[in-house]
Amino acid sequence: MERLHDIPLPDFSVDDPASSDGIVLQGLTKTFQDRKVLDGLDFTINRGETVVIIGRSGEGKSVLLKHIVRLLTPEMGHVWIDGEEITDMGKRNLFEVRKRFGMLFQGAALFDSLTICENVGLGLKWQGGLSEEEIHERACTCLAQVGLSQVEDKLPSQLSGGMKKRAGLARAIAMQPDYILYDEPTTGLDPITSDAINDLILQLQSELNVTSIVVTHDMASAFKVADRLAMISTGKIIYAASVDETRDTDHPMVRQFIDGSAQGPLDVF
Ligand SMILES: Nc1ncnc2c1ncn2[C@@H]1O[C@H](COP(=O)(O)OP(=O)(O)OP(=O)(O)O)[C@@H](O)[C@H]1O
Ligand SMILES: [Mg+2]
Repeated sequence: MERLHDIPLPDFSVDDPASSDGIVLQGLTKTFQDRKVLDGLDFTINRGETVVIIGRSGEGKSVLLKHIVRLLTPEMGHVWIDGEEITDMGKRNLFEVRKRFGMLFQGAALFDSLTICENVGLGLKWQGGLSEEEIHERACTCLAQVGLSQVEDKLPSQLSGGMKKRAGLARAIAMQPDYILYDEPTTGLDPITSDAINDLILQLQSELNVTSIVVTHDMASAFKVADRLAMISTGKIIYAASVDETRDTDHPMVRQFIDGSAQGPLDVF
């Protein structure tokens, strides 16, 4: 059986990241408790595209997203956003870069003591420039966009898991970001709500030209929203290709993953 080291790794290195648009990840390395979760990872997400990242649980997908907004800092390597390197950036400049990002965290990450409306409007409040009423109005519009009306005064603990996820998504879009990072946007949602979220991702991409990275295990969602699919394994992006190419791929790891098979080069445990 083919193992990963038998398959040539694609070369995603970029010669001149300072003059590249989009997100360029260069040699990202991150170790937790002696385990190299990211191991010299190179990859580029182009402006305006939606890249879906797939990979086994624990392979570092959430860690990767957190590096892109510098919630985590790599011990080696660089993150370039539209030609600006952010790993050494000071707080003020970083704040400006982060304003351009919306992030849906895997566990929604809502503040328990704030209402849903306050959670969704939090970024707008920090940013300044809008009145309380304007923030409330914008938050309600975003909540309606994700199919959550009439819950703005509730606390997160009063919502179901799927509703919390959608509230997290409303918060991600409230700042009208250029980039949205979605960590498992449809996990735990019923199929109808999942598909509505997929449609919303597509709508944001086509109407606002948002650049998106979507981490998901939901292959129906992946094939629906992606321009390109990428797979992370052993701390690197080991594969990236268009949706059509991926459907027919004979890359053994990607094939095993999209077929959901216990048989193949990826160990079950
Ligand atoms: N802050 C942290 N401190 C220590 N270890 C961490 C930290 N964040 C992540 N890890 C470890 O890094 C590895 C990758 O975690 P990550 O959350 O990125 O996985 P994932 O690919 O998102 O998995 P899943 O599909 O289950 O969400 C795991 O072994 C995890 O325990
Ligand atoms: Mg994760």
